[in-house]
Amino acid sequence: MTDPLDQYINRREVPALKVHRMVLGADGMDLFPAGVADMDFKAPPAVLNALQKRLGHGVFGYETVPDGLMPALTGWLTTRHGWDVDAAHILRSPNILNTLAIAASIFTKAGDGVIVQPPVFFDFYDILEENNRSLLSNPLILKDGRYTIDFGGLAQLASDPKAKMIYLCNPHNPVGRVWTPAELIKLGDICACHDVLVVSDEIHGDITFEGHDYTPFSSLGPSYAQNVITCLSPAKSFNIAACCSAFTVITDDARRKAFQVENSRLTVNKNNAFASAAMTAAYSEGGTWLDDVLHYLAGNVALVRAQLATLSGVEMIEPEGTFLLWLDFRKLGFTPEELTEFLRSRACWAVTRGQAFGIGGEGFARLNIACTRAKLTSALQQLSAAINQID
Ligand SMILES: Cc1ncc(COP(=O)(O)O)c(C=O)c1O
Repeated sequence: MTDPLDQYINRREVPALKVHRMVLGADGMDLFPAGVADMDFKAPPAVLNALQKRLGHGVFGYETVPDGLMPALTGWLTTRHGWDVDAAHILRSPNILNTLAIAASIFTKAGDGVIVQPPVFFDFYDILEENNRSLLSNPLILKDGRYTIDFGGLAQLASDPKAKMIYLCNPHNPVGRVWTPAELIKLGDICACHDVLVVSDEIHGDITFEGHDYTPFSSLGPSYAQNVITCLSPAKSFNIAACCSAFTVITDDARRKAFQVENSRLTVNKNNAFASAAMTAAYSEGGTWLDDVLHYLAGNVALVRAQLATLSGVEMIEPEGTFLLWLDFRKLGFTPEELTEFLRSRACWAVTRGQAFGIGGEGFARLNIACTRAKLTSALQQLSAAINQID
C-alpha cells in the first residue's frame, strides 16, 4: 500500500508562500523549495472532515469558541506531553509572532534588553527591532556536532540590569535541539535569579524524534510556571498554519491580566470558524496522523544522513526535533554569499541562508525536509552532483 505522505501535491494551486515568487524570486520557480517552515503533506483526515463539515453548514456569521476546543488542547497537552494546564490560564492569540511582540511590548520598555540564543529563528530579531528592544545575544555553543546553551554567558547577560526577558526557542529552530529538563531548569534558575521573564516559543514541541521528549518549560514546576509566557500553536504539528490561531499559557495572574488587557486594547478577539474547527479536530483526533508524520520525517532524516555521508564538505547537525535540518557547509570554504549562490544556482536549492539566523549562522543553511521522499531524493542528488563538480 502506498504511504499517503508520498502523495505529491501541487502547492502552486494555492498561493503557498513556500513556492511563491515572493520567496523563490521570479527566476527561482524551478528550485527545490525547502525554505518556509511548513510541510508539503495534507492535513490530518480528521481536520479535513471537520473543515468540510463546517463548510457544509453554510452560515459563517459571528461565532464564539466551540466548547470542545479548550478540552481538546488541554487533553492533548496532558496525554501527549504530561503537562496539566488549567484552561483558565490559556489565552487565544492570532499567531505566535503576535504573542512574542505583545509580550515584549507589555513586559519590557523601549531600550530594555531581550536575550536570544543564536543561531535562532530570524523573526525574533525583527520583532525586537520593530519594538525598539535591545538585542542581547548569547550564542549557543557548537561542540562535536551538538549545540548547547552557554550558561556562563547567559548568567552574565541576565545579570545586566538592562536584561528583562529571554526569547527561548524550545525545541530550537534551526539547530534541532530539544532542550532537556536539566537544561531548562538551569536556564530557568538563572532567569528567575535575575528577574528575567522567559517567553518560551514551543511551536515545534510536538515534532521530536525517538529518544527526545519535549519538555514544556512551564511543566518544570510551579516556580518555573510563574515566570514564563508559553507560546503554543498547532500550525507546525498538523500543517495548518493558514487556518489556525495560537495559544498563550500564562500561569501568573497579574501577567495574564495584563495580557488580556492588551488583547482587549488591540481588539484581538475575533474567532475564525475554520480555525476553531481545524484546531479542535487536530488536537482531539490528530495523534495517529502525527505519529505517522514523525515516522516519515525520521525516514527523511535517515535519507539525508546517508546521502551526506557519501559527500565531503557537508555535515548534518543531528536533529532531535523539528522538520528543519541545520546543515554545515563550512568545509566547502565558501563565503556566506558564495554558499547561497552555490546552493541556488548549482544545487537548485531554495533553502534558508544560515546568516539569517544571526551569530554562528554563516556557512550553514536550513533545509526543510517535510516533503515527499521522492522530492527529497532528487534534491539530494542535485546537491551531490553540484558538490562533485566543485573543482
Ligand atoms: C520558532 C517559530 N516560532 C514561530 C513561528 C511562526 O509562528 P506563527 O505563524 O504562529 O506566527 C515559526 C515559523 O516558522 C517558528 O519556527
